[in-house]
Amino acid sequence: MFYSQLPLAGVDVDVVMLPWFEDDGGSPGGSAAGVDAATGGELTRALGTKELSGRLYEIFVTPITDSSWKARRLVLVGAGKSADFSGDLARKIAVAAGLAVKQRRAGRAAFVVRAASADDVEVSQAVAEGLTLSEFNVASYKTSDVPPGKPPAWTVVGGKTDRSAAVARGRLLGECSNLARELANEPGNTLTPREFVRRSEAIVSGTGLSFEVLDEKQIESLGMGMLLGVARGSAEPPRLMVIRHDPPGAPASPVLGLVGKGITFDAGGISIKPAEGMERMKDDMAGGAAVVCAMRAIAALKAPIKVIGVIPTTENMPGGKALKPGDILKSAEGKTVEVINTDAEGRLILGDGLWYARTLGATHLVDVATLTGAIVTALGKITSGLFGTPDTWADVVRRVANRAGDRVWPLPLFDEYKDQIKSDIADMLNTGGRPAGSITAALFLKEFTGGLPWVHLDVAGTAWAEESKPYLPKGPSGVAVRTLAELAFTSKEW
Ligand code: BES
Ligand code: MN
Ligand code: ZN
Repeated sequence: MFYSQLPLAGVDVDVVMLPWFEDDGGSPGGSAAGVDAATGGELTRALGTKELSGRLYEIFVTPITDSSWKARRLVLVGAGKSADFSGDLARKIAVAAGLAVKQRRAGRAAFVVRAASADDVEVSQAVAEGLTLSEFNVASYKTSDVPPGKPPAWTVVGGKTDRSAAVARGRLLGECSNLARELANEPGNTLTPREFVRRSEAIVSGTGLSFEVLDEKQIESLGMGMLLGVARGSAEPPRLMVIRHDPPGAPASPVLGLVGKGITFDAGGISIKPAEGMERMKDDMAGGAAVVCAMRAIAALKAPIKVIGVIPTTENMPGGKALKPGDILKSAEGKTVEVINTDAEGRLILGDGLWYARTLGATHLVDVATLTGAIVTALGKITSGLFGTPDTWADVVRRVANRAGDRVWPLPLFDEYKDQIKSDIADMLNTGGRPAGSITAALFLKEFTGGLPWVHLDVAGTAWAEESKPYLPKGPSGVAVRTLAELAFTSKEW
């Protein structure tokens, strides 16, 4: 990805992409100055016929007739009202424009930063993220009807002063999001726990991160009975990945602990899921992928603090040795759990994962998991559920997520809900029934956080887009990668 400053006419590309606001008249100023003249007045004409309105995500393509311009084509992308503009919208319209340009098989394409009232450093980074996100190809197994091969070479243009650092940061974060999307897109027969480990090792290699993997024997000697319990029904052995970012000169504290759910396929176990839609459960490791890929970004961008990523990974299958309803498991931290529903497996493996991140020295915890169908009922497919304690820590994560383009919203962890997971025979149940299903799942996790500041992101609704949107095509979204990575740069606020 390149970065270039104005003037636009001299930018040597095939296509120029330019945000267009609803309140742009015929001849906007700033970085958009002169474009109407460059198209021979085509924009004024299209505004007159309402063919061009600036409505969010609208795409308008027209030739550049002025031969003093290097580019031959102008792609306008609707940016809405300039007063409502934000870094988040910049990212989204960059995705929409990037997808349009990719489809037209442009070789070289420039995107012009217009920050309006938003911060132009933030917008420059977000544009680089959006263009990179538009490169993701979901159809990686197609042998016919192959989608556009190489994405265009991108240039980001503009900014009040040199914004190349922001653009490089956005590029890197976009790439790491796409790596997580590739992992989540892989089918369960390819991405077994051991293959997840191999690919994760490749993703973190060369970045200075340390990568360690525990096999089933080591998992057993640590006493992780919940992770082992879930793995019992599968022919594939479980693994636990530990990725460490330990930069020279980092303070002893804080240590950020990131824990991701790594179920490579969730059939439900003995409490088996219905056939309809079960294929979707190949992405039940999206939280784990987010942690792996955020760790790569954290190292590449040189976060100033220690970070530990912990990813327990296994299948959840109904094999002959599988966990049964009524079985009791002993967690690594000592608490016993009566398993009511073997499909509530994510909280079991995460409980042991959270405990392990703590024993490795984490002082602040964040876990990411496609944990409950109930969160889809509560927040739909737009917003991830955010749970946590204390409120100050939850607010930090919430602010960072907002800026990174991951929509989150808080839900409560009131103690009264804990009655729902009381067991007669063990310390707790692994499910609390239908009411407040996402909250009782989060309360279960809380039991394994040892009272540390902790946030849980339930991404069951947001990890996979069921319908294409202009800013997010159908398929894996890469949710939480940018939030986790950016969080590692905010320790002054903790
Ligand atoms: N992986 C699922 C949650 C899920 C549901 C992810 C829909 C993505 C889309 C999780 O392991 C699960 O099965 N949860 C159960 C819990 C229940 C048995 C208490 C659920 O939500 O139905
Ligand atoms: Mn499940
Ligand atoms: Zn699951």
